[in-house]
Amino acid sequence: MNFLRFSDLCASGQAAGRRVFIRADLNVPQDDAGRITEDTRIRASLPCVRMALDAGAAVMVTSHLGRPTEGEFKPEDSLAPVAARMAELLGREVPLVSDWVDGVKLAPGQLALLENCRLNRGEKKNDPALARKMAALCDIYVNDAFGTAHRAEASTYGIAQFAPQACAGPLLAAEIDAITRALHEPRRPLVAIVAGSKVSTKLTILTSLASRVDRLIVGGGIANTFMLAAGLKIGKSLAEADLVGEARQVIEAMKARGAEVPIPSDVVTAKAFAADAVATVKPAHQVDDDDLILDIGPDTAQSLAAQLKSAGTIVWNGPVGVFEFDAFAHGTEVIARAIAASPAFSIAGGGDTLAAIAKYGIESEVDYISTGGGAFLEMLEGKVLPAVEILQQRCQGKQAE
Ligand code: 3PG
Repeated sequence: MNFLRFSDLCASGQAAGRRVFIRADLNVPQDDAGRITEDTRIRASLPCVRMALDAGAAVMVTSHLGRPTEGEFKPEDSLAPVAARMAELLGREVPLVSDWVDGVKLAPGQLALLENCRLNRGEKKNDPALARKMAALCDIYVNDAFGTAHRAEASTYGIAQFAPQACAGPLLAAEIDAITRALHEPRRPLVAIVAGSKVSTKLTILTSLASRVDRLIVGGGIANTFMLAAGLKIGKSLAEADLVGEARQVIEAMKARGAEVPIPSDVVTAKAFAADAVATVKPAHQVDDDDLILDIGPDTAQSLAAQLKSAGTIVWNGPVGVFEFDAFAHGTEVIARAIAASPAFSIAGGGDTLAAIAKYGIESEVDYISTGGGAFLEMLEGKVLPAVEILQQRCQGKQAE
C-alpha cells in the first residue's frame, strides 16, 4: 500500500530536530490494582519511539487506554503505569504530560508520553478543532497504532489530515505489509481458519474470505452452524440456526470457485460445558440430541493439519475448540502445531488466538502475530482502515486546509 513511511523520513535525515507526534496503541490489559498484565503492545511500540529518538527528533507519544469519558479524568484512565513500563523497557525517564493539547515543550532528543488521548473532548468524534490543535504540536505525525487503525478519531484520522507531514510508523507498516502479503499476494494454497462462537460476528469476514481463499476452515460455534448447513445434527451445541442460509451461501461460493469449506468428520462432545465434563469422540453424523460439541475430533484435526502443512499461506483467527479446557484442547493444539511446522507464510490475530499461541509456545514459529483485535478483523473483511486510508490520501499530496 502506498503511504509515507517514518523509517524513510528518518533514513533521509528529515526527522532530525523535528517535533514528532507518535500515535501508538498502548491499550494494554490491567488488573484491578492497575498493574499491567500483558505488555506486548508497549514492547511493539518501542521500535518507533527509538527510531524517532535516534533520528534526533523531539518525541511525543500518546495512546488511548480503555474508553474513558471525555473531559473527566479518573486515575484509572491514566497512562501512568504505561509510562513506568516504557521507562523500564527504554532505560530512560518517560515523563507523563497532562493537558497537552495547547502546547508541549520538548527539545530534540527528549521524549514525553502525553496522557490518555481519549480524555480530550472531541477525540472520539474526530472533532476538527481538536485535530488541528494536535496537528499544530508537530512537524511530523506518525501513526503507529495498528490496533486503533479501524477508528476514525481525532488522534488517528483528523490529525493526519492537518499535520505538515503524516506517515506510518514501523509497526503499522509491518502489520499492513503482512496482511497485504497474506490476503492480496498470497503464495497458494491460501488457507484461512476462522473460528469463534458466532457466525454473526464474523459473517462479513467469512463472506469476504470466501472469494479469496482456497480453503476456509471454520471452528467453534461457527463450525456448528456450518455443520447444520451441511445437514448434520449438532444436539444442544452453540449455533445460529437463523444463519444456516448464509453459511450455505459461503459453502456454495467456495464450491463454485473450486475451493472448499472442510466440514468436520468427527467431533468431541460432552453433556455439559465444564472443564471436568467427560469428553467423547464420535463421528460427526452421530451427535446425540443432548450433546454439546466442544472440539473437532482427532481425524478432522489430522486431516486439517495435513492441509495446513501443504499450504502456501495461512491466516489464523480463532481456536477451533474450547482450548481453555484440556479435554477439549486437542484440536486447537494440533492446528497450532501444524501451523508452526508448516513452511507456509502464517499470520495470526485476535485475543483468543494469541492466548492459544502462548499456551502452545509457538510464538516464534508464526511468521506474523498481529497486535490488532478489531483492526485485524476489519482487514480480514477486506476493508481499508480509516487511519490507513488518510495516510494514503496524504501520500497522494492531499492535505486538509
Ligand atoms: C483494542 O484494544 O482493540 C484497541 O486498542 C482499540 O480499542 P477500542 O475498541 O476501545 O477502540
